[in-house]
Amino acid sequence: MKAYSIALIPGDGIGKDVTGAAWRVLQLAAKRGSFALDGTSFPWSCAYYLDTGAMMPPDGIETLRKFDAILLGAVGWPAQVPDSVSLHGLLLPIRKTFTQYANIRPHRPLPGVEGPLRPKSFDILCIRENTEGEYSGAGGRVHSGTANEVAIETSIFTRAGVERILRFGFEQARARRKKLASVTKSNAQKHSMVFWDEVTRDVAKDYPDVEVSPYHIDAMAARMILAPESFDVVVASNLFGDILTDIGAAIQGGLGYAASANINPDRSAPSMFEPVHGSAPDIAHLGIANPIASIWSGAMMLEHLGEAQAAAEVMSAIESVTARGIGTEAGKDRTETITQAVLAELN
Ligand code: NAD
Ligand code: IPM
Ligand code: MN
Repeated sequence: MKAYSIALIPGDGIGKDVTGAAWRVLQLAAKRGSFALDGTSFPWSCAYYLDTGAMMPPDGIETLRKFDAILLGAVGWPAQVPDSVSLHGLLLPIRKTFTQYANIRPHRPLPGVEGPLRPKSFDILCIRENTEGEYSGAGGRVHSGTANEVAIETSIFTRAGVERILRFGFEQARARRKKLASVTKSNAQKHSMVFWDEVTRDVAKDYPDVEVSPYHIDAMAARMILAPESFDVVVASNLFGDILTDIGAAIQGGLGYAASANINPDRSAPSMFEPVHGSAPDIAHLGIANPIASIWSGAMMLEHLGEAQAAAEVMSAIESVTARGIGTEAGKDRTETITQAVLAELN
């Protein structure tokens, strides 16, 4: 029997609940599909940091490298550990070291879920650059604590980095509705974003069958709400993609529905699957986190592993559950109720 090794990092807050839910659904999907998912769970989190002084052990990255994929919940417990410490100690190094440069986030409303928009159908695939740009971590502070203090955070855009994410986006567009929106802010950021536009035009020459539209991030943010049906594939830098995908989540009905995959397209290291949302300290311990975003991310993991049929079954189970009115509103149904409903539907 085919077996895949999966590293589980539930993390903090609702990350633990939703990963547990997704894992149960994935186990059932594997059983039905006659393959095995062998999970190894790691307690790396803010609690782990408070115990040990680090978010993961020094050989954490090398430990993860051996796995076929990583399923992550959420990282962050700002009341006790600064986000800049927890995220740069766990989530961000995994994305960068494993060259998971394509962060794929699908945004489409599930049946029965009423988002904030008037009934609207849309199907957007956001592709966010995930290893450089505004989140490179390059910079520093000098004259700390004085009136002359300076903080510098430099964005890094490399030709290799920009070209590969755009190529990835064009390939996705080619396999979908052949439309690609490239998001920049080249009217104000005259170096990096003008460069991004130029690379877009260069790469577009190899994809004459794909219709390309450039957007400025501000206009794009409005259009995601006013005319989301006009988009197919959207490619954006790390920061812009981060913000747009929370808008994507919002128009889907909330963060509880937004899935994400951090993909290493060359497969030279494992890819990581996680919901877009964070640890939600405001609802942690209440048992009401929506596990759908995490389960959907798990379906993306199955797809990446080559188990397309199992992935499709999980997606249709989610869709049947929401179509029946379960898990369609934040806080309406408990995590356990939604999970049980997905499991029953899958069976
Ligand atoms: P958040 O996504 O955790 O929460 C934002 C809002 O959405 C909250 O009101 C929350 O209750 C709600 N929400 C989120 N997921 C939900 C779900 N599945 N079901 C129902 N409601 C849900 O964002 P935040 O509050 O800005 O961040 C909290 C912590 O999580 C911070 O430490 C932040 O840095 C971290 N964070 C981590 C990740 C990650 O690990 N990938 C992503 C985003 C934020
Ligand atoms: C996300 C999150 C992270 C990001 C944070 C927690 C660093 O917001 O996955 O969207 O910005 O990538
Ligand atoms: Mn985000």
